[in-house]
Amino acid sequence: MRKQIVAGNWKMNLTVTEGQALVQQVLEQLPELSAQKQVIFGTPFLHLCQAVAQTKDTANVGVAAQNCHHQASGAYTGEIAAGMLQAAGVQSVIIGHSERRMYNHEDNALLAKKVDAALAANLHVIFCCGESLDIRDADTQNAFVEQQLNESIFHLSAEQMAQVTIAYEPIWAIGTGRTASAAQAQDMHAHIRGVLAAKYGESISQQTSILYGGSCKASNAVELFSCPDVDGGLIGGASLLADDFLGIIRAMV
Ligand code: G3H
Repeated sequence: MRKQIVAGNWKMNLTVTEGQALVQQVLEQLPELSAQKQVIFGTPFLHLCQAVAQTKDTANVGVAAQNCHHQASGAYTGEIAAGMLQAAGVQSVIIGHSERRMYNHEDNALLAKKVDAALAANLHVIFCCGESLDIRDADTQNAFVEQQLNESIFHLSAEQMAQVTIAYEPIWAIGTGRTASAAQAQDMHAHIRGVLAAKYGESISQQTSILYGGSCKASNAVELFSCPDVDGGLIGGASLLADDFLGIIRAMV
């Protein structure tokens, strides 16, 4: 059985003090998580050490960075290497978020290098993919997402792919309040699982968690998470308040 995951992506929000309080509130009310369920706090870099210290004794709760550099070290002012994250106790890194693709011009080829750097540092990768509204309206989303996967993660070995979670995030649903319907999410997740099966075989395909992201909240999480190929969510806005995030976590357990 594959893992079900609820991962928060705080993006560029919260001071360290606010983040610390949020993690504490969530941990205080966290429902029991079986071994196959996982909660992740995806925090800004500045928060990571604090979040690692707060979560280290809670089973099945982890911390993710929202980015890493594609080189292991060097003269890259202002950047953070995957090995630094791993050494600080961070378990995962989000790579390929549409906001980084858009605002930081990260293309599929660069993202492939970031994925390699993260895996080389023994980090788990949450790899984001998803189409814009234009592509959805043209009904070419399946081919578009397939190309994103092809160019950024399908060079990996089967062993490496076991360290990757995929997050499908239609750009038109991010922060817009317009969630993909459960049927739209299921269709794309089934497509992604199909291309995984074609590339890596049925076993890897069935073991890979595929999360949905885009205006997911407590009120729609139960329906989304009940889809057979939706294995949890990557949560933006609703991960910033403890009650909202806990509502989504409860939809998973
Ligand atoms: O990484 C998270 C996604 O961008 C979803 O953000 O839940 O605010 O729509 P959202």
